[in-house]
Amino acid sequence: MRIGLFDSGLGGLTVLKTLLKKYPNNEYVYYGDTLNIPYGDKTKEELIILAKKNVEFLLSKKVDMIIVACGTVSSNCLDILKELYDIPIVSILEPTIDYLNRSNYRNILVMATHATINSHIFKNNVNKNICELETPKLVPMIENNKLLDIEEVLHDYLDDYLNNIDVLVLGCTHYPILKDYIKKVVGENTNILDMSDLIKIDNDSNKSLEIYFSKIDNKIIENTKNILGINDLIIKNN
Ligand code: DGL
Repeated sequence: MRIGLFDSGLGGLTVLKTLLKKYPNNEYVYYGDTLNIPYGDKTKEELIILAKKNVEFLLSKKVDMIIVACGTVSSNCLDILKELYDIPIVSILEPTIDYLNRSNYRNILVMATHATINSHIFKNNVNKNICELETPKLVPMIENNKLLDIEEVLHDYLDDYLNNIDVLVLGCTHYPILKDYIKKVVGENTNILDMSDLIKIDNDSNKSLEIYFSKIDNKIIENTKNILGINDLIIKNN
C-alpha cells in the first residue's frame, strides 16, 4: 500500500519512524510543511487551507491512504478533510481517543499545541478526568534543534501537574522527539503515551520511502536523518 503522511514539519517523522519499524513493507510518502510551521498557533481556517494543500500534494504522489501525522490538523480539520476527499484519511488522534476511553487511566494530562488544546478534542471525546496543557515553546525548540534549556522549559510546564496523573499524553507528534528529556523530568513512574504506538495498518509487500518538505535546508536534512535513524535518505523540496 502507498501511504501518505503529513505534518507541519519534523513531528510526523515520529509517526513514520514507528510505522517503518512495525510495518516496513509499505510505500511511504512523507510531506512536512516546513514553510508554514508552526501550525499550533494558526486558526482553524488557516489550518484547513494548509491541510488541503498537503492532502493534494500527497494525492499527486498517488497515495492510497493518508495518515494525518499532526495533532493540530487532526484536532481541527479531520472531519472536513474526510468529507472533501474520497480516499481513506485517518489520524493519530482517533486510536488515541479510543485507547484512553478503554483504558483504566482516570487522570490524564494532555500536552499539545495551542490549537489542539483550544479544540478540546480530548476533553470532549474522552470520558475521564482530562487536564489540558498547551506547551507552545516546544515545537520551535525542536525544529531549530535548540535544546539547551529544554529540561528547564519542561519543568516549568509540567511540575505543577505531575502529582496526580496516571498518564501523560504527548498530544503533538513533535513531542516524542523529546521523550528522553520528558522521561527525565516526569520520572520513571509516570506513564507516557506516544500516539504513534496505537496506529494499526496493514503490512504490504513493496517497500519504499519518499520524503518531501515545502522548505528544505541542511538543518532539516540532518534532523530528519537523526530522527529516523537512517543516513541514506533522499529528501526533496516541494
Ligand atoms: N506536529 C504537530 C502536531 O502534532 C504540529 C506542531 C506545530 O506545527 O505547531 O500538533
